[in-house]
Amino acid sequence: MVSCDLLIENAMLATMDESERSALPYGEIADGAAAISGDRIEWIGAMSELSSGLREGAANILDAKGRWVTPGLIDCHTHLVFAGNRAREFEMRLQGTSYEEIARGGGGIASTVTATRTATDEELFSGASKRLGTLGSFGVTTVEVKSGYGLDVETELRMLRVARGLGVEHPMTVRTTFLGAHALAPEYAGDRSGYIDLVCETMIPKLIDEGLADGIDAFCEGIAFTPEECERVFAVGTQHGLPIRVHADQLSDSGGAALAARVGAVSADHLEYASEDGIQAMANSGTSAVLLPGAFYFLGEEQVPPVDALRLHGVPIAIATDLNPGSSPINSPLTAMNMACVLFGLSPEEALCGMTRSAAKVLGMSGDRGVLRAGSCADLVVWDIDHPSELSYWIGGNPCDAVVQAGTLRSY
Ligand code: NIG
Ligand code: FE
Repeated sequence: MVSCDLLIENAMLATMDESERSALPYGEIADGAAAISGDRIEWIGAMSELSSGLREGAANILDAKGRWVTPGLIDCHTHLVFAGNRAREFEMRLQGTSYEEIARGGGGIASTVTATRTATDEELFSGASKRLGTLGSFGVTTVEVKSGYGLDVETELRMLRVARGLGVEHPMTVRTTFLGAHALAPEYAGDRSGYIDLVCETMIPKLIDEGLADGIDAFCEGIAFTPEECERVFAVGTQHGLPIRVHADQLSDSGGAALAARVGAVSADHLEYASEDGIQAMANSGTSAVLLPGAFYFLGEEQVPPVDALRLHGVPIAIATDLNPGSSPINSPLTAMNMACVLFGLSPEEALCGMTRSAAKVLGMSGDRGVLRAGSCADLVVWDIDHPSELSYWIGGNPCDAVVQAGTLRSY
């Protein structure tokens, strides 16, 4: 007897699957159905091809009534574990002080570090939980969470443990990234290489022992670390098999894109100031771009990332919220998609691809997440929209009607 646990029928499917028979935008299958068994998509296709046995054997049926169904959204770059907020710095910036001036004056990332160090695990968890819940309510099923507001051994590990705990408590997939090289710890002012030693020789071995990180990141920038300093961190990460991410060329051309390519990073993120050569190098090394329009918008930046060069060289483009208290206090993946279109000139289809298929690639989940395909993980979202371009169109509001997470209908 053919059977499945859940059948979604009468759906407009945006499979986002390049290999899909449908050559239509969004990998569209009109009037489609998806059969789910356990946490997998067992079958997907047009209603006209759905076998009567599969329909009769379905334990549950969800009638999408013509609504659109997409893969679960993937937010592949967030800093959602932190304490406090930086609204006072926002006021200062509005009065003319720049993000870099605030950072060099001891504010910026350092002020979130102070708040995070003094917060309890419970406080960190409950703040992050609320933000994660909000992302989930917008159809996010997979989230990457970075450390980087501890900058000492204990707080960096605590942040990663809290992030791991989020994945246990929430019906969402959480991937953790160690970002010890986010800013110079205040105790190491004047001893940059001492801090890099601490990251490489103490923090990384400890988090590896506890299995706390799925990847490693560093902030390559004038106000943070040089390419050489980042490379030291990445060399140790690589020894332990951690995939590399780079905060690259956000505020200046710091050689971040070239660094990402050189170390074989899975992604270079931000990229506003990346050079054409850097993009070419990324293409050669198979490094994806992660664009973060929330930070560009909130910092009032003017130089947009080289989107045409990324397209020309065939570099996959992911989009993420960069949810953090300093440069991107944005809790909605859809708003980030809207900004990617309006500010960076992406098409709504590119933006949705950036929050699904391309984001999955960055997290090493190609094929399993970010596409609707037989055999892939059953993370799906049902949207109250007439066309998927609406996901990038509305500013505010939330058309997310239902989320299936790993085969189970989720309550938010
Ligand atoms: O991705 N660029 C570095 N890190 C964050 C900002 C962190 C902060 O200002 O607290 C970012 O934009
Ligand atoms: Fe970031």
